[in-house]
Order: sequence, then C-alpha cells, then structure tokens
Amino acid sequence: SMNGYDHYMLKEIYEQPDALRNAMRGRLNDQDATAVFGGLNLTPQQLRSVERIILTGCGTSWHSALVGEYLIEELSRIPVNVEYASELRYRNPPIENNTLVFGITQSGETADTLAALNETKRKGHRALAICNVVGSSIAQASDGGVYLHAGPEIGVASTKAFTSQCCILAMLALYFGRMRHMSFETGGRIIEDLRRLPSAVEQALTCDAEVRKVAEKYESATNVLYLGRRYNFPTALEGALKLKEISYIHAEGYPAAEMKHGPIALVDKITPSIFIMPRGTTYDKVLANMEEVKARGGPVIAIASSDDTEIRKIADDVIMIPEVPEFLQPIVSVIPLQLLSYHIAVLRGCDVDKPRNLAKSVTVE
Ligand code: M6R
Repeated sequence: SMNGYDHYMLKEIYEQPDALRNAMRGRLNDQDATAVFGGLNLTPQQLRSVERIILTGCGTSWHSALVGEYLIEELSRIPVNVEYASELRYRNPPIENNTLVFGITQSGETADTLAALNETKRKGHRALAICNVVGSSIAQASDGGVYLHAGPEIGVASTKAFTSQCCILAMLALYFGRMRHMSFETGGRIIEDLRRLPSAVEQALTCDAEVRKVAEKYESATNVLYLGRRYNFPTALEGALKLKEISYIHAEGYPAAEMKHGPIALVDKITPSIFIMPRGTTYDKVLANMEEVKARGGPVIAIASSDDTEIRKIADDVIMIPEVPEFLQPIVSVIPLQLLSYHIAVLRGCDVDKPRNLAKSVTVE
C-alpha cells in the first residue's frame, strides 16, 4: 500500500534512507576495511585479475552506470566503459580477456539488458547483475551478482533503485580498490562515509517544502536544463529524465562545461537552468557557468551545499543539501531533483505513478 503517501513515487522517494541501509546491511567489513558480497561467484584470483569493467543498462540504470564509471575508476583504478544495453547487444565490440560485465537493472526483466548480458556471455566473458528483483530473468541469466534489497519499486519513475544502485557501485569500487592498491586507512574512511549516508539522505529529504515552492514557480516551463560536472553530470541526466517522464516537460542534462558548445543558445528568460553544484573539485567552474547563464537572462536554480551562503546572492532559487564526500554526492543531490519532478507532475495533474506511454519494465526491444 501507499502508507499514507499520495503516490508510490513519493513513498519510494522517502524510503531511500532505509533502502540504503538495506543495500549496506552485512556488506561492510571493518576488520578488513572493505565490502563483502556473497554472490559474485568469482574467486579472489579471478576478481584480482579483472582488467576492465563494462557497465550496461537502460534509462535510469544507465545513469547509475555512469556514476559507477566515476566511482570504479577513482577508487579501484580499473578502466570502465559504460554502454547502453540496446547498443551493446548489436555492436559486437572487441572485448579483451579479463573483462567483467555488469548488467544494472531494477526489474531484472529489461529485454535489452538481458540480451546484452547474453551476448557478452556467449563470447566468454563473465556477466554479473546488479539487480533489485530476486529471481528475475537477468538474475537467473547472470553468472552471479549483487541484489539491491531496495524492496518493490512500483512507481514507473525509478527513484530508490537509482540511489541503491549508486550505493552498491560505491561498495564494489571499495571492494575492488581494497584488493589492489587502496590502503586500510582509505578503506576505513570510505566505510565511515557510507555509514553516514542514510542520515544525509534523511536530511536532504527535509528540503521537500522548499522544492515544492520552486515547483510552483516553474510548473509551466516548457524546457529545463540540468547541469552538473563529474559525479553530478549523471545526476543532471537523471534529473532531466525524471522531469520528462512524469511531467512531460522537455528537459536536457549536460556536463555544465558543455553549455558554451551549444546548449546555451537555448537560454532565455522562461528556460530555467538547474545547477547541481555541491562543493567539490569543479565548484568554481560550475559557478562561472551559472554566471554565464544569468548574464543571458536565464533563471538559475542551485542545488548547493548547506553551508554555501554566497550562492544565494547569485542563484534565483537555492535548494540546500547536506555535505557528503564527492563520490557519494549523486545519492544526495538527486533527492531534490526527484522531488522537483514529483511536485511539478502533481501540479500539472499528471498521473505520477503511471505516466503516459511508459511501462515499469520494458520486456520488448
Ligand atoms: O528495470 P530496469 O532498471 O532495467 O529499467 C531500465 C529503464 O527502463 C528504467 O530505468 C526507466 O528508464 C525508468 N522509467 C526511469 O525512471
């Protein structure tokens, strides 16, 4: 049931702190400062010899794959490729030995993801699943994998599956890092950061009333731009997809620095740009991008760190999120974006849980 929430999507947004706790339960090992997974079905030797990881999926799961690319490359130093499952299955790319393929999927029933995994398996590569639904087709077809344990996701718009997938990918990055170069100390720090995550998400959810005001202001927009860099570039894509899916508003996500290469031509006084810019490596650069948009008369909304008081002087609207290390930012910064699309959809009278033209699992090509 909806437990007093108006829609499944809202209930699932609010379930995220618990979903993250469930994703981590029993999987963090302080003794060895690493993560543990019961179902990878590979020997430590096989795992240590992995030289490349391919992450594949569709839609929101493809966005978490993009987050996974940043995570695994930074924390494990293993080269990562991210592929749309629908393209991977027909492209027949040369894949080196010692490549590990992960299919990322909430439902475990997405036809393209299943076919992409089967294609790579046929060619002798190990294919694992990061999946929510136990016993699903993809869970069965894979050589092993990791379950999200996020509980059923009913709303067509994926929310808690995305944040759980990012969390699992962070733990996998820790795991691969610790069997290679990563120090005990760094591993321990990452575990601490992960443990603080559910309460950071709880705190991020308190922005709901603020987000609702922003939704009222922009509910009749026809185009919205979402901009972020590094870990928050996939977050921008995810925010844009959420708005398209349930509000039927055209939205685009870009790495903020790409604006000057074309999309900035779209900016006018009725086209809001949402900058996902918690403090981090590229904060100053993104701030400069925001000023460029402002100078061209575009409304700007900032998703910013809670101690960033300066940003209020520049952005038209600011939504504050708690500070977490950069590698965990997507899990926190996506929260206001999920809520924004939810509130705009409700204000526009859209069917939030069953948006037009969409199905929860896409079992056909
Ligand atoms: O069940 P999956 O994760 O394999 O589904 C993949 C996409 O169909 C899914 O993420 C879709 O994009 C959602 N409606 C996004 O909210």
